[in-house]
Amino acid sequence: MPSLSRRTVLGGGLATPLAALAPLAAPAIAQGTPLKIGLMLPFSGTYAALGESIASAFDMHLKELGGKMGGRVVELVRVDDESDPAKAPSNVNGLLGRDKVEALVGTVHSGVVMALVQASREQEIPLIIPNAGNVAATRELCAPSVFRSSFSNWQPAYGMGRALAAKGVKKAAWVTWNYAAGIESGDGFRDGLQSGGAELTKVLTLPFPETNFQPLLAQLPGLGIDAVGAFFAGGGAIQFVKDYAAAGLRDKLPLYGSGFLTEGVLKPQGAAAEGLQTALHYGDGLNNPRNLQFRPAYKSFTGREADVYAVQGYDAAQMMALGLAGTKGNAGAVKDFAAAILANKIDSPRGAFTLSPSHNPVQTIYLREARNGENRVIGAAAEGLADPGTGCKMT
Ligand code: BEZ
Repeated sequence: MPSLSRRTVLGGGLATPLAALAPLAAPAIAQGTPLKIGLMLPFSGTYAALGESIASAFDMHLKELGGKMGGRVVELVRVDDESDPAKAPSNVNGLLGRDKVEALVGTVHSGVVMALVQASREQEIPLIIPNAGNVAATRELCAPSVFRSSFSNWQPAYGMGRALAAKGVKKAAWVTWNYAAGIESGDGFRDGLQSGGAELTKVLTLPFPETNFQPLLAQLPGLGIDAVGAFFAGGGAIQFVKDYAAAGLRDKLPLYGSGFLTEGVLKPQGAAAEGLQTALHYGDGLNNPRNLQFRPAYKSFTGREADVYAVQGYDAAQMMALGLAGTKGNAGAVKDFAAAILANKIDSPRGAFTLSPSHNPVQTIYLREARNGENRVIGAAAEGLADPGTGCKMT
């Protein structure tokens, strides 16, 4: 992605002079002026349900705060990014130039998030990433204005690999979509396996968001492996888990994964998911006061059960509120915004967490088992796990 100067906004890959477009949000910090926050998320396509969960939980916390953050009334501006990286620059440009948002929240897809990271870095506008795990955002592209309320792609898969090695698995394969989330979680799976003396011997991929899994499934029995790990999410995860079971592979090669494989999708997966073990920074039945308050509140707000995406959206709102409280509503005061977030533990339904120096959650990765429509926590795959943060130079 080309680098943009601070005097440009994102637009179709061309650096457009700032003066030619609607001006970026001025530091409108007068307490009477509404503060616009851009919510750029997928509301259509394979990740639509994930985007809806994040947006609903963000909105729920905003309502808990009486509609204000940092003393200012907040107006949310939603954009459907369709999980399409090609449309991301113009979507970001619209939020900044046309809608004049002062802070950004987004997104789900690891490719799409890069346009948000780039805008946040270059225009020093706060960005809270409520899902996308692209490791670069909190490694080499880390920045004072960029924060994650979710995970790095490496974290949950590292936990899964580590738990499998501890179970005695020696060789495993990774099956996934061929984009940053799938590939980087494969790296985490490999590192986790290796930490316990096991090996990742094969990575099988198909393009995002395709769901023709049969050619990949057909290769698995011939690979000489003890287990299979996978990263899929949303609609793709429903299909993969069903196809894996229908191919008769469950008894021959146990299936594991980053917890997205079964998160928020157990109902449509049905019996095909029963007993699957996955690793994630959230699970059903976590017995902490925040989770016990959050789950029924989310259910009554949305009519849906909470999942990890809702938790990440809720925590993005908590982090935004902390940052804005620390700057009395001036989102442009990025250093103070960051200091206010970093000085706090985030009281999350997953369990309280802090941010690493590169602004990624340091968090426990739980081992879960799918039973009767729930991802029940059965142990810890990795406690207090930080992403390595390699290459992050916070200026
Ligand atoms: C990602 O693209 O980073 C992602 C998407 C869905 C679930 C988890 C990660």
